[in-house]
Amino acid sequence: MLPLQSNKALVLLVAVFISRAFCTAAGVGLPDASPLDTRGHATQATYGVSSVTRGDDGLGYAAQLDLSNDPLPQYGPSFQQLTWQVSPETPSRLRVQISPTGVKRWQVPDSIVPRPGAAAGLTASSLLYDVSLPEPGAPFNLQVTRRATGQTIFDTTGHQFIFKDQFIQLATNVPADADLYGLGEATLRTGLLLPRNGSIITLWARDVAAAVTDWNLYSAHPFYLQVNKDGTSHGVLLLNSNGMDVLLNQTSLTYRAIGGLVELYLFLGPTPEAVIRQYHELIGKTAMQPYWALGAHQARWGYQNLSVFEDVVSNYSAAGLPLENIFADIEYQGDNFRTMTFSEDRYPAAKMKAFAAKLHARGQHWVPIINPAVGAQPGFRAFDEGNRDDVWIKDTSGRPYVGQVWPGAAVYPDYLAAPNISSWLQRQLTTFYRQAPFDGMWLDMNEASNFCGGQVCEVDYSNATSVYYLKQKTPKDFDLTDFFKPRVTCWLSCKQPAVVSSLSSPPYKIHNGGFGFGRQAPLQSGVIHPTAVHADGSTEYDAHNLYGTTMAMRFHAAFTAITGKRPFILSRSSFPGAGRFAARWTGDNVARWDELFHSIAGVLNNNMWGIALAGADICGFYDMAPEHHVWSAEHALPEAEYEELCNRWTMAGAFYPFSRNHLAANHLTRAHEPYRWQSVAAAHRKAYGLRYQLLTYIYSSLFVAHSRGGTLARPLLFTDSSDAAARNATAQWLLGEALLVSPVITPNTTRITPHFTAGSWYNAWDLTRMDVTTGGPVALDVPLGEVAVHFRGGAVIPMQPYANVTRDVRYAPVTLIVTLPAQPSSGSQAAATAQGPLPPHVLDEPCAAALARHAGQLVSCGLLYSDGDSLQVSEDNTVQVWYTAATAPAGRSGSVRSTVKANAGPGSGKLRIESLIIAGVPTQAADAAPTASIAGQDVEARASYDAATGVVKIEGINLEAGQAFELNWSI
Ligand code: NOJ
Repeated sequence: MLPLQSNKALVLLVAVFISRAFCTAAGVGLPDASPLDTRGHATQATYGVSSVTRGDDGLGYAAQLDLSNDPLPQYGPSFQQLTWQVSPETPSRLRVQISPTGVKRWQVPDSIVPRPGAAAGLTASSLLYDVSLPEPGAPFNLQVTRRATGQTIFDTTGHQFIFKDQFIQLATNVPADADLYGLGEATLRTGLLLPRNGSIITLWARDVAAAVTDWNLYSAHPFYLQVNKDGTSHGVLLLNSNGMDVLLNQTSLTYRAIGGLVELYLFLGPTPEAVIRQYHELIGKTAMQPYWALGAHQARWGYQNLSVFEDVVSNYSAAGLPLENIFADIEYQGDNFRTMTFSEDRYPAAKMKAFAAKLHARGQHWVPIINPAVGAQPGFRAFDEGNRDDVWIKDTSGRPYVGQVWPGAAVYPDYLAAPNISSWLQRQLTTFYRQAPFDGMWLDMNEASNFCGGQVCEVDYSNATSVYYLKQKTPKDFDLTDFFKPRVTCWLSCKQPAVVSSLSSPPYKIHNGGFGFGRQAPLQSGVIHPTAVHADGSTEYDAHNLYGTTMAMRFHAAFTAITGKRPFILSRSSFPGAGRFAARWTGDNVARWDELFHSIAGVLNNNMWGIALAGADICGFYDMAPEHHVWSAEHALPEAEYEELCNRWTMAGAFYPFSRNHLAANHLTRAHEPYRWQSVAAAHRKAYGLRYQLLTYIYSSLFVAHSRGGTLARPLLFTDSSDAAARNATAQWLLGEALLVSPVITPNTTRITPHFTAGSWYNAWDLTRMDVTTGGPVALDVPLGEVAVHFRGGAVIPMQPYANVTRDVRYAPVTLIVTLPAQPSSGSQAAATAQGPLPPHVLDEPCAAALARHAGQLVSCGLLYSDGDSLQVSEDNTVQVWYTAATAPAGRSGSVRSTVKANAGPGSGKLRIESLIIAGVPTQAADAAPTASIAGQDVEARASYDAATGVVKIEGINLEAGQAFELNWSI
């Protein structure tokens, strides 16, 4: 007997497409239901201030709150006394904690988000914010304002603050004309923009296909970015890992968490990118990835044996397409999906080892998938050793918690707290690695997914059908239709103790999405039961949202220990802090045009969450109408449109930070590797042709995010948050500071009108210049097989010649592209306000200094970064050169100077600057002859001018990147 869920209701992944799932998710979110209105009759104060103590440093305070009114008794009694601490931590970061006095509560552990505390020497006068000081006797109210303008940052006025054991409500006013971004994970029809019509974003990590709109998906991120009408921005994090709803309406935002405590962080910006940097300063900056991870990736569920797998790689080469890495999906695994083993039938270890060596010799890579659940099969080493080392999450009977995933009955490693977990993992991974060395790890199903979800489950040996399915061996031919369909049905026998636990059935129900349940699924639906326990005594109820992040953290450490190499870890589930360890793909999407649009929000959200290397499955994981779970032509896109979609998606996806074509098994989708169609192959060649020339630019941009926080891919609005229309231009994105991608995302379309913020923009394909005086739409012709990509004015961008593998691009000679900005530098401040367009790299000192130094001149700035994939990057093993160009306002003469911050590692002495291009030089006479000289160096630079494009080209520079130089030119 299965409590709560029938076998039929228990369908994940494959059965994602039960029509109900899509129908119940219709509309954006759910209306806010009475009696949960945070306003109206409910505004009677709940807590009063009984005492206030100011901090010794005069910066923060602590207050005691006494309960004065206990609303919503159906959610249990409120705590009588709370301690409220307000702690300024940096000039732009404020921490607020509220917790029951004298009661120990669950809190996100320091291992996930190490708390930095207050910066040394912080002074009251340096703070960008003011916090109202509570008065004894007054009702609780938290009001934080921006000191410079008095604008509201966080304001609980008019909302009830409630703190019960399993219900915490904290609401703030939000101006109706502000825009909000960042909460997740959910696929929203509005794309990046959070809808505010009574919608509810729910945070409870789930194995639900990303194609399902509005529901809670794989990750949980209780962070939002608020951009006000005037462009000033701030960020808010409720650092709480419990299940949570966030209610959004025209004038307020309400967090409702079902446990933990209030640990609130406010980030003052004031520009959007500054907010994100300050956020990452707290949660940890994005991992530096190996250079090769920026290449083109391919995966498919269902490359049924090694020979098919090898063919994919050969097909890429035969078509002359770049392929950097191929992922092995679950079919490589040993019988019954034994984790970290090879199937002797389909992917024999010895042959895999030989293939891996071949790939490596050609500069290519491979990465296996790993699922968290370990098959409960006596005699299987990972399972036996895990029993011995006591590494599993436990159920309420104190035995290892048993769920069901691909291997059948399975147990879950306690990556959060089991004392022996690191040594157990390292041992399993070492054995696996020795069989066939891999280049990274793909962590799937780590929400963690569970096809049963019961409280105490086991195999019922008296039930012949269940035993048959649970013990069935993976068929040699890997027949997915017959084998997988029954696998996603729960065959375990689960018991629910007579007393319904408050953990499995808390009084307040978050709006958890689940098939057959709409948005009222019980917490255990599709996951480890909330009553399950970790070695430190914490329950899944509290720690569930952290599973994926803890798994990524342990694999990151184990991979590093075993290989000594910088890890590439791709994770499906994440929580704040995950970006220190992992890259992400956005999960199971569909080959549909709206999904191409949704993918952009997915990539941008991950970047705000501190996970820079993010991408969606290019051209969709599934290919079929939602309500059908076995492929049929009737329900899929017509072939010609499928080809057109894949063409457009390939060219857009070539500019995702993480760029991978991935798809489901053949009973769920038609194939769509780029070599399947000539037109898509050509599109792939063209788009990746540009990406590969820009690899060092992208890598340098990743390094900026890694070393300073902030985004790699970012919304266009980040270039000018005061441009109201840019705030809704969420079908475009910037990769780094200077590359704007404006893809075609609708069928049968060759003319688009993407938004451009004010400034100069350069067509990346021919460097022609376009000046935009006020932000607005610009009509562009983009035939099939092309994609609109523009460079921003005011940048310096390194480019290198194309090669089919990243290894051959890495140290190739560099051409620096200087794009002239539309306006001379105003000399001051730009980064301090959010008024008007921001120059590229305005937050980075070398560029900020150049903007200040060259007031009145046209300033361009950028970074060249190179390393050898060292574990830690420092000035001792990297090349870091900043380029600043100052050009006279008429654009007829200027200088380009390099500032060498570091010159070490394998790029040192190897990377050379071969030539320089100044783009956007105003029209000169056709025979105008530019001159160029390099001070202090004996070089013969040759300059030429192309009147058609306005480009001055200076060749013959041929200097080591690590040698400082100053080049002067005039025309
Ligand atoms: C679900 C993942 O999201 C997908 O990418 C993968 O191919 C399948 N599991 C099979 O492993």
